[in-house]
Amino acid sequence: MASQLPRVCVTGGGGFIASWLVKLLLARGYAVHATVRDPCDPKNAHLKQLDGAPENLHLFKADVLDCETLTPAVQGCQGVFHLATPVPEDKILHPDLDVLDPAVKGTLNVLKVCSTLKVHKVVVMSSNAAVTSNPNWPQDRIKDESCWSDTEFCKEKEDWYSLAKTLAEQEALEYARNNGLNVVTLCPPFVFGPLLQSSVNASSKLLIYVIKGGPDVMTNRMWEIVDVRDVADALLLLYEKNQSSGRYICSPNRVCTRDLVDLLKKMYPEYDYVNNVVDADHAGPPLSSQKLRDLGWEPRKLESTLSDSVQSYEKAGLLQDVPGNPCRLPFLIRAWL
Ligand SMILES: NC(=O)c1ccc[n+]([C@@H]2O[C@H](COP(=O)([O-])OP(=O)(O)OC[C@H]3O[C@@H](n4cnc5c(N)ncnc54)[C@H](OP(=O)(O)O)[C@@H]3O)[C@@H](O)[C@H]2O)c1
Repeated sequence: MASQLPRVCVTGGGGFIASWLVKLLLARGYAVHATVRDPCDPKNAHLKQLDGAPENLHLFKADVLDCETLTPAVQGCQGVFHLATPVPEDKILHPDLDVLDPAVKGTLNVLKVCSTLKVHKVVVMSSNAAVTSNPNWPQDRIKDESCWSDTEFCKEKEDWYSLAKTLAEQEALEYARNNGLNVVTLCPPFVFGPLLQSSVNASSKLLIYVIKGGPDVMTNRMWEIVDVRDVADALLLLYEKNQSSGRYICSPNRVCTRDLVDLLKKMYPEYDYVNNVVDADHAGPPLSSQKLRDLGWEPRKLESTLSDSVQSYEKAGLLQDVPGNPCRLPFLIRAWL
């Protein structure tokens, strides 16, 4: 009976990562409440096709800026996975409206509803953006969960997305301390992998650009990469393990742009690939995912992520050339090069 299953809520359920989490939760026998901003939008149609969805998936129309819409979605749930945050692809003109408020106020709204409804555990999706933008971190020291992005540095660089993710995660952990709510956070780097949804999210656009090439110059910077299915596994692991606490980095792969292109070319020589790659100055220290691995997290190899991504893009026709419409890097990513 559906009513006897453990019940959890996933905010932003139609997004790239959340869709894989919903799929995993249904497969593991959870009843899932997924929030979407528009249940009738065809971009959320894939959720209804997931195995187990007709019986155990319930869609709720909710905006994280409106507590009243969140309450019915969280009601009756033992756990909440908060993933809804805008990942703006274009230049951010109104930082508060476009990203800071939905990220920071939105997270606090979700947590307040969770406190009121006595949710047992909340897993909040943060990002490497909340970890790595820290110019004062020693170059020879591996970045672990004690490393936070420097909010003043983010402001100076007008890196509003990193600022939003950093403030949202800090506020979430502080809210948890002050209100006795069980909150853990996950900080993934660039997430690649097959798409379940019909739209294309920002991080997938980066890999598609690397494969297709286009007018935007890339630097030979280091990319930290994780598979979307391993992120879903990590979120569920954090939820199910009683001992999980605080923040977790999940950053298993590190590769520079040219090595990423070479790796892809060996598997799929038929594509053009980005060829305007210029040298980069700083590689920066790597990140450690040891805390998450100690909980039992076992991510797959980068090669599997890349080949499954390419096959998914091919199936969706995303690697075909569109005459007069060159492939571009999302502004968000151009700003990080
Ligand atoms: N992909 C990555 O490389 C990566 C890496 C680290 C962390 N993350 C984090 O992972 C989460 C999911 O990202 P994603 O890559 O899966 O991106 P995505 O596909 O763009 O998903 C973002 C989701 O947030 C929802 N959303 C945005 N503003 C909202 C609001 N005001 N109220 C309710 N929902 C709202 C969107 O709903 P609509 O469809 O209605 O717009 C969408 O479902 C985000 O928190 C992101 O910061 C992503």
